[in-house]
Amino acid sequence: METPDKKKKKKRKYTQRKRTPEEDKAFRAEQARKGRLRWKKHYEQKKAEELQKVAKESNLSRYKEVKREVTYKQTPPQWRFSEAIRGGARVVLFLGGIRAGKTYAGAREALKQVYKYNRLPNLGWIVSPTYPMSQVPERMFKSHAGDLVAKHMKGERCFLMVPPKSMPNHYYRVEVKSAEEPDRLRGPSLGWIWIDEGAMISKECWDILIGRVLDSKGIIFITTTPRGRNWLYEDVYLRSHKDENYVCIQAPTSENPYLDQQEIQNLRSRYSGEFAKQELDAEFMSYEGLVYKDYKPMFHQADRTEIPENALVICGVDFGYNDPFVCLWLAKWDGIWHLVDEHYQSGKTLDYHIQVIKDNPLAKRVVKYWGDPSAAQQRADMRSAGIQIYPAIRVHDKSSRKSINTGIQEVTRWLNRRAGNGDPMLQIWKNCINTHTEFMQYRYREMTNKNAGENPVDDSNHAMDALRYALSSEAKLSGDFRPRYQDDSGEVKILTSKEKNNKYLNEYFAEMDKKRPRQTGSMFPEWLGE
Ligand SMILES: Nc1ncnc2c1ncn2[C@@H]1O[C@H](COP(=O)(O)OP(=O)(O)O)[C@@H](O)[C@H]1O
Ligand SMILES: [Mg+2]
Repeated sequence: METPDKKKKKKRKYTQRKRTPEEDKAFRAEQARKGRLRWKKHYEQKKAEELQKVAKESNLSRYKEVKREVTYKQTPPQWRFSEAIRGGARVVLFLGGIRAGKTYAGAREALKQVYKYNRLPNLGWIVSPTYPMSQVPERMFKSHAGDLVAKHMKGERCFLMVPPKSMPNHYYRVEVKSAEEPDRLRGPSLGWIWIDEGAMISKECWDILIGRVLDSKGIIFITTTPRGRNWLYEDVYLRSHKDENYVCIQAPTSENPYLDQQEIQNLRSRYSGEFAKQELDAEFMSYEGLVYKDYKPMFHQADRTEIPENALVICGVDFGYNDPFVCLWLAKWDGIWHLVDEHYQSGKTLDYHIQVIKDNPLAKRVVKYWGDPSAAQQRADMRSAGIQIYPAIRVHDKSSRKSINTGIQEVTRWLNRRAGNGDPMLQIWKNCINTHTEFMQYRYREMTNKNAGENPVDDSNHAMDALRYALSSEAKLSGDFRPRYQDDSGEVKILTSKEKNNKYLNEYFAEMDKKRPRQTGSMFPEWLGE
């Protein structure tokens, strides 16, 4: 039995041991040391944890890397370009010479749109005039974006971008488009559009594209070399002088310090006069000296239609490696020539071009190919690959030993002929963008020496040559060829240069006489002959 007494007895009694002052001091010191050790351990642990945490975070989100990557070292014009975009302009035109760094800057600004400006809606486009041309900016964008591309859907030509840290579920789409068919560019609004080589797309495409960013308060930036005074000159360049939402930056090739001088020299030697101004100094050329003045884009361009069964299909071929290789598909029905398709590409082997020609949907219907008469080797190679190619027929007239002028006359004649309903009898389908561009800028050499004005310059004449080969050879074959200075009504007769002069002057004065009867004592009585 336990009694409260017993319990009390069992209770232990503690007696505090008295420490001497020295002992007490040592004891306290020991306690303090242990405490410090504990804290030290705690801090070390915390530090280690923090280190781990940072590493983990930067693995999850590439935002920090992104910030580092979207900026790039710019040339002075590229800096002005990116400042204009940052400053809130709606349409920014980067006019650059060849190799001035246009595509380079465009790809980087496009990536900035995604990560720096977060331009909404989260869809942006990279537009090029044709499919082959669109591969350049696509490759440039892909190599620059690197890891930031979460997924590249090659079939759709679309990039899904890694979301930034601030918006983890925000997948930005960047799509690559070519502007061959305007209707494919219609759709909902876009955050931004980058057009590479924009001067080559049609006005129709431009109007559609600008409509797609204006309602979403988006931005269009164009990187291009000028191509004659087309819509780009009027709608963007001239407008940039008075509208503050439009900005134009000009970048001559020589302002790209990343090119070596030798390369610039090589480019300089390839171009002359006005062409150098356009291709290297990025200036708009005037219309003077144009070979095909009669080519009117709005009038001669036509939409795609069905090619009838009975149409005659032929091709014109101009060879080139550094210069583009060109094959044009022409179809003639109801007496009207239609330029229905083009293949225009440089830097590829002949085998590649042969494959492209054979793969063309019209390949089975082509009756004959007319090739450059001076390129015997290439023609032989194509023949052995099973392509029926013939040397284009050279047609000389008496006054000039060169056949090029007669060929140009023939093309001009087709440009000027009208069908019964007023349609042009040479129609260029809208998908033939490169031919269109060459029509706009094929020009005569400048009048530096006596005879220079007679011959066109050697640039931008590739599609023009192919077209000339095909049309003049066909005309010669069908007996429908008229020598120089012969109009549609006149009988076929080759004129001497004196007769030509007289004919011209007679016509000229007859024309003037209609307006105002000639005074007696003309200025050139002896020229009038009879
Ligand atoms: N800011 C830059 N930094 C480094 N290299 C550059 C820069 N800008 C242009 N380049 C170089 O200049 C060359 C021409 O650029 P590119 O954009 O292809 O010319 P283009 O104007 O013909 O599109 C490329 O090889 C590119 O690497
Ligand atoms: Mg380029």
